[in-house]
Amino acid sequence: MSNVDLDWANIGFGYIQTDKRYVSNFKDGAWDEGCLTEDPNVVLNECAGVLQYAQTVFEGLKAYRTEDGRILTFRPDLNAKRMIDSAKRLEMPPFSEERFIDAVDKVVAANARYVPPFGSGASLYLRPYMFGTNPVIGVKPATEYQFRILVTPVGPYFKGGAKPITIRVSDFDRAAPRGTGHIKAGLNYAMSLHAIVDAHNQGYDENMYLDSHTRTYVEETGGANFIFITKDGKLVTPKSDTILPSITRRSLCYVAEHYLDMEVEEREIPLTEVKEFAECGLCGTAAVISPVGKVVDHGTDICFPSGMTEMGPVTKKLYDTLTGIQMGRIEAPEGWIHEIKL
Ligand code: PLP
Ligand code: COI
Repeated sequence: MSNVDLDWANIGFGYIQTDKRYVSNFKDGAWDEGCLTEDPNVVLNECAGVLQYAQTVFEGLKAYRTEDGRILTFRPDLNAKRMIDSAKRLEMPPFSEERFIDAVDKVVAANARYVPPFGSGASLYLRPYMFGTNPVIGVKPATEYQFRILVTPVGPYFKGGAKPITIRVSDFDRAAPRGTGHIKAGLNYAMSLHAIVDAHNQGYDENMYLDSHTRTYVEETGGANFIFITKDGKLVTPKSDTILPSITRRSLCYVAEHYLDMEVEEREIPLTEVKEFAECGLCGTAAVISPVGKVVDHGTDICFPSGMTEMGPVTKKLYDTLTGIQMGRIEAPEGWIHEIKL
């Protein structure tokens, strides 16, 4: 089947409506069999749990086109597991890993003509999400839920593609309430909207959030984890149980160690150490690895030696290896690649 006609090299990170989405409903203690639908609208009771108490969780993953035209997803089992963790924290029923992967397969296959061509720099972003649908007025969880997956073709998350960005050290916390930063819940992101708008208004691309307790250690950004490269070529990344456990980051740590023979350290990173690093990148499904050229800490510039014009050399190797695996050009570790049957 031929692709829809889009200017693939120039689409940004936005919503483009596609043909089909997946829907399953939870009622009387069980999920129904689920189906694909053409209707992009959700009609809810005015008192639905999601509207009153923000009872909603989500995930993000991508489907990639290979050079020989196949379609691959990258470690969807890990998104399924993380969504179960997020759902549990918000007192929502788990949507099983098997059902999740089956839903991913069906919705990608049904929208195959929206999977961008190999080499275009774009991919198909999948957004699985779940929310409380029945009326609740006392503060308590809903008893009925809807699970959906929408898909949309996307380009680079940051304007300018692979050009290094400038971020600022934030005085806000990313996630609220405390302790829920490690799950993907709507409320956590709603609470970060003011910080991101404020950062953009002041000319920054993103926020570097510090640990909310001591405001001393580097945590993550609004939609990605940090990786740093030391001057002697080690990959260092923050150890914290209040950041989202990024699947991209876990994969990069493995790639660094097993494909690129690099040393990897996951440890606490004080803000005061950031000026010592040679390279900095933001990693995530949407961000892939977006290079950071400069961090501004309340008027003081921390400029990485890799500069503001291109990705640093070690970041580039990590980027090429990871995207090579995701797009089927480089052999993947066992179980990382899931091919969509068309
Ligand atoms: N941190 C936050 C706050 C995110 O929203 C994301 C995106 O999902 C990530 C990190 C990166 O996670 P992943 O690599 O699993 O996409
Ligand atoms: C992702 O990378 O999937 C994210 O969730 C980041 C952002 C779009 C929220």
